Amino acid sequence: MKEITLLTPDDWHLHFRSGDMLKETVPATARCFQRAIVMPNTVPPITNAKMALDYKRHILAARPEGSTFEPLMTLYLTNDTSSQDIIDAKASGVTAAKYYPAGATTNSDAACSDMLDLYPIFKVMEEQDFPLLIHGEVTDNEIDIFDREKVFIDRNLLPLVEKFPQLRIVLEHITTQDAVEFIADASDYLAATITPQHLMLNRNDLLVGGIQPHNYCLPVLKRNTHQQALRQAVASGSKKFFLGTDSAPHEKQHKESACGCAGCYSALNALELYTTVFEELDALEKLEGFASLYGPDFYKLPRNTSTITLIKQDWQIPKAIILPNGEPIVPFLAGKTVLWKIKE
Ligand code: NCD
Ligand code: ZN
Repeated sequence: MKEITLLTPDDWHLHFRSGDMLKETVPATARCFQRAIVMPNTVPPITNAKMALDYKRHILAARPEGSTFEPLMTLYLTNDTSSQDIIDAKASGVTAAKYYPAGATTNSDAACSDMLDLYPIFKVMEEQDFPLLIHGEVTDNEIDIFDREKVFIDRNLLPLVEKFPQLRIVLEHITTQDAVEFIADASDYLAATITPQHLMLNRNDLLVGGIQPHNYCLPVLKRNTHQQALRQAVASGSKKFFLGTDSAPHEKQHKESACGCAGCYSALNALELYTTVFEELDALEKLEGFASLYGPDFYKLPRNTSTITLIKQDWQIPKAIILPNGEPIVPFLAGKTVLWKIKE
C-alpha cells in the first residue's frame, strides 16, 4: 500500500507541559490529532476544575492559526480530592481523572500514597460515569522495576475492578503481556492505551551497546516477549486497545544526565510510527480502529468526521529541536528514517 486515509485520529494520553513549552507541544500534536487527553502532572498539578479550565485556555492559545484541535482535560487525584471536585469537574466539561501512585513517575509527588484512600472518590466517579485513568505500577522499593505493572494489576487493579464494576478505567501505556491479557479478558468498562515506543522497542533498545536515555520512559521498556504481546494486541483489532502516545517532553539536558528524566517526546512523529508498526504487522486495515475509532467510542465522544492521509515516503526525524526557551530537546528516534509521512 502506498497511501492510507483515516478518520482524523486522537491521542488519548499525552503531556503538553506548561508555559513556553506549549508553543512547541501543542502545534506538534495539532498537526495530526483532532483531540488529546492532556495529562495533569504539571507543576503544580491540575487538581480542580478551575485549574483545568485555566490550563485549557493556555493550550487553546498555543494552537496554530486556524487549528480546531481540542484538548480534553483531566484532574490529578490527590489525598485532598473531594467528591465535589469530581462533580464540579464533570459539570465543567473535564473528561477524566488520573491516578498516579505517589513517586511512580515525573511530577507524581503530590499523588495519593494509598489507592484505598481514594475509594470514596472512585465511588463518585462510578456514579458520575467519569473515567479513571491509571498509571499502573506499584512503587514499593522491594518490587523489581520490571515487575511493577504486573504486581499493580494483581494487587490494586483486580480488587478495584471488583469493587467498582461500572467505573470506566483506562490502564495507560501498558507494557506487558500480563496487562494485555488482563485487559482483553476484562469487561467493556476497561481499556488500555499503547505508546509507539512500547510497540517499537524493548529493553535491549534501552540498555545494549550503551545506555540510551532517550528510550527511557515509564513504565520502563520490557523484554521482547512483552513487546510482541503488545504488537499482537493492536494487530488483533480489539476495541480495548487504542492510541495514546504518552508523548512526554524533557529538555535534552534533563535526559542526558546522571539522573535522567523518564519520557519520550514522540508528538512529532507518533502517527507515522504507529503506521509503520501496523504495516510491519501486515495489519494496516486495523490502524483506523486503533487510532480513530475505539478511543472516542470508549470515552462516549463522537468520532471525528474529517480525514487525514498518510503516504509512503521516507523522511528523517530531526536530531534536535530548539524549544521556545532556547533549550534543545531530542525527539523520539531522533535521526532515524520514518517510512510514512502525513500528506500536507
Ligand atoms: C511521563 C512524564 O514525563 O510526564 N513520563 C513517562 O516516562 N511516561 C509521566 C508518565 O506518563 O509516566
Ligand atoms: Zn504519561
